[in-house]
Amino acid sequence: MSLPTSLPTSLPTSHYRHHVFFCCNQRDGGASCCNDQHASEVRDYAKKRVKELGLSGAGKARVNMAGCLDRCDEGPVMVVYPEAVWYTYVDRADIDEIIDEHLVNGRPVERLRI
Ligand code: FES
Repeated sequence: MSLPTSLPTSLPTSHYRHHVFFCCNQRDGGASCCNDQHASEVRDYAKKRVKELGLSGAGKARVNMAGCLDRCDEGPVMVVYPEAVWYTYVDRADIDEIIDEHLVNGRPVERLRI
């Protein structure tokens, strides 16, 4: 199979305004990973909160879990596209701030960026 030699000149409109990925990777054997820092719980909270605020769906936001995003030493990590802003977080208050500032107001939360 051959790859195209040029990219399309225009990109399609994104289905979501913001697409958020939480690393929820769980490693065995004691190796550090985001899920050891409650990533799955926090992702569930973020998904619920985005829905409660009416921010979820086409043209709005989508919160997904991801496998290892290869920034394990900086974890727990999440990333918001299309801006490709990476964050770490400690608790639900951090997630509330990311939702309120970044997803609602379009302002990345500098103090949580990695
Ligand atoms: S385990 Fe989360 S970035 Fe690798």
